[in-house]
Amino acid sequence: MGILDGKVAIVTGAGQGLGRIEALELARHGASVVVNDLGTQADGSGTNEEPAQAVVQEIEALGAKAVAAFGDVANWEDAERIVRTAVDTFGDLNIMVNNAGFSRDGMIVKMTEDMWDSVIRVHMKGHFSMIRHTMAYWREKSKAQGGEPLYGRLISTASDSFLMGNVGQPNYAAAKAGITYLTMSAARECQRFGATANVVLPRARTRMTMSGPWAGIFEKPEEGFDTFAPEHIGPLLVWIASPQAAHVSGQVLQLWGKHIRVYERPQAALDHENETAWTVDELDKVLGSFFEGKKPVEDGFALPMA
Ligand SMILES: NC(=O)c1ccc[n+]([C@@H]2O[C@H](COP(=O)([O-])OP(=O)(O)OC[C@H]3O[C@@H](n4cnc5c(N)ncnc54)[C@H](O)[C@@H]3O)[C@@H](O)[C@H]2O)c1
Repeated sequence: MGILDGKVAIVTGAGQGLGRIEALELARHGASVVVNDLGTQADGSGTNEEPAQAVVQEIEALGAKAVAAFGDVANWEDAERIVRTAVDTFGDLNIMVNNAGFSRDGMIVKMTEDMWDSVIRVHMKGHFSMIRHTMAYWREKSKAQGGEPLYGRLISTASDSFLMGNVGQPNYAAAKAGITYLTMSAARECQRFGATANVVLPRARTRMTMSGPWAGIFEKPEEGFDTFAPEHIGPLLVWIASPQAAHVSGQVLQLWGKHIRVYERPQAALDHENETAWTVDELDKVLGSFFEGKKPVEDGFALPMA
């Protein structure tokens, strides 16, 4: 018996990297999996149906059920079709893992319009399209069962690039921040069906982190524990998707190597009410002393770069 027996999952961008690991791990724990992938190059260009098919074969070799759903998560019709594939093939949809994406890094002053648009599109519109069609299905299902809570898990993939405001990744950091707050909004809305929505922040050695300006940051050690092996993410995905995490929603969880972290919501460090509307001089008095001694950027909103 697996803890996800009878559950139906979609994993987007599951043809390789983290998505492949997640799809395999969900299947190992009993879920039937729709393997979505567009088969792009690392920069999001090109298409290839083979990676999704190959992962379907790997899952079937485990004795679990899988079907491929080739398509672009940021294309409205494709997203709808991927959701329908789950329901038509396996009779339901319980776990929606948004993972597909790519990065096209560059400093702001060198970034082209296409680098910005393509990265925002695949992550933000990709997550939104899949969440939108999944939740529409859940809403209908919930109505059909007289408002009884259903088994629903939305899992989004962000990155601590947004927590740190990574230099050289303005498009990616913005997209991942957008994904996080999209997921917080989804968590509030899907609570009425009994579903949850959470964000995971991985750190792993994949095609994405083995090329481009970040190449080598997650290198494999010659010996000892492989901190950045993508396999480490699997158990976190399964746990969030499991019945054990029915009460866990609106959370941001990070896992890499042997580390697990849960981030807290942003807190107000200064919260001051004036007797009247603020003047520049009054603001200067309060803010001037608050920022006294604080370093620019280093003591700003974003976490220190790590
Ligand atoms: N690797 C890391 O350290 C790391 C860290 C933080 C976040 N992430 C996030 O994890 C996710 C997976 O990244 P990865 O490192 O496994 O990269 P990867 O390049 O190995 O895999 C990404 C997959 O997404 C697919 N894809 C791209 N565009 C698509 C589209 N429009 N529709 C469907 N599929 C599409 C690609 O074909 C590819 O198989 C991404 O969202 C990434 O931003 C990765």
